[in-house]
Amino acid sequence: MDRFNRFRISIEEYYAAHKRVLPWRKERPVPYEVWLSEVILQQTRVAQGIPYFEKILAAFPTVEALAEAPEDQLLSLWTGLGYYNRARNLQAGAQQVVRDFGGELPATSEELIKIKGIGPYTAAAIASICFDEKIGVVDGNVYRVLGRYFGIDTPINSGAGAKIFQELANQCIAETSDPKSYNQGIMEFGALHCTPKKPACMLCELQEDCEAYNSGRVDELPIKLKKGKRTFEELHFAVVEHENKWMMRKRGTESIWAGLYEFPQLGSAPKNGEILMDPFVHKLSHKDLKCHFWAATPDQLSEPSPYYSKEEIKELGVPVIIANFVQNKL
Ligand code: ADE
Repeated sequence: MDRFNRFRISIEEYYAAHKRVLPWRKERPVPYEVWLSEVILQQTRVAQGIPYFEKILAAFPTVEALAEAPEDQLLSLWTGLGYYNRARNLQAGAQQVVRDFGGELPATSEELIKIKGIGPYTAAAIASICFDEKIGVVDGNVYRVLGRYFGIDTPINSGAGAKIFQELANQCIAETSDPKSYNQGIMEFGALHCTPKKPACMLCELQEDCEAYNSGRVDELPIKLKKGKRTFEELHFAVVEHENKWMMRKRGTESIWAGLYEFPQLGSAPKNGEILMDPFVHKLSHKDLKCHFWAATPDQLSEPSPYYSKEEIKELGVPVIIANFVQNKL
């Protein structure tokens, strides 16, 4: 048997023995549910993602319901997951599925990838899990497991790397009779066993065959090129209260928080301003944000915004830093 098949069979056995019971892992997986779960899991771990999956699915149980959802309600349910554009793209994708595919997700990765917000990873996940297509998924877990087992030192975030890893993934899955177990198995194996730090090599069925293990490079592989430096920004929020309501503005279409509500911002710290909470640093993927909350009056703002009660604010989509302030201080 060749290396690809040995690897695949081990992964399928691992999955049979260790797979987690998850709400979207059904005897007959529902494509919409798998789609929703995969979008959520692109930005958070399984354990943190489950409650988001459950509340979003409860609010929007079908593609049609998601397509028709008020954007503010979807963004409010998304609060804390970050990458709010993914929520907007998911909804645009749902609208496209209703319009172009009668509300049913298409059954091939080739068609799925035409849908807004569905890239190669999500298309491969849905096509293999729901429709038994033999196409390899490639996510962070898969880069690590394949990179180590096959000893690949091409950087994962290079054009050449993307191609090599996708081809390897496709070669591994090519002869299976159970694509969903192989694809979910390699992700499960990466998440639980072949972990970034302290992988369980001593207990590993694949140890003898693993290039990284055999050459002492488990901690070095896979290789990722360093991206540009992180940036730093200070945000000064103006907390303007009137009769137990607070001024909130809706952000325009720019930025990662497009369409979310926040307190209006001041360009800099106000002179003699009253601070309402110790400043803290919030880390985004590419940027550190130092956040300050100031007691303010309307005349400090270039333009007024509407006022909302605490209960109303809880229903608006807000960035997690605003949600925390509202929770703790209002
Ligand atoms: N991480 C993201 N998607 C996953 C899946 N379908 N199974 C296991 N881990 C995952």
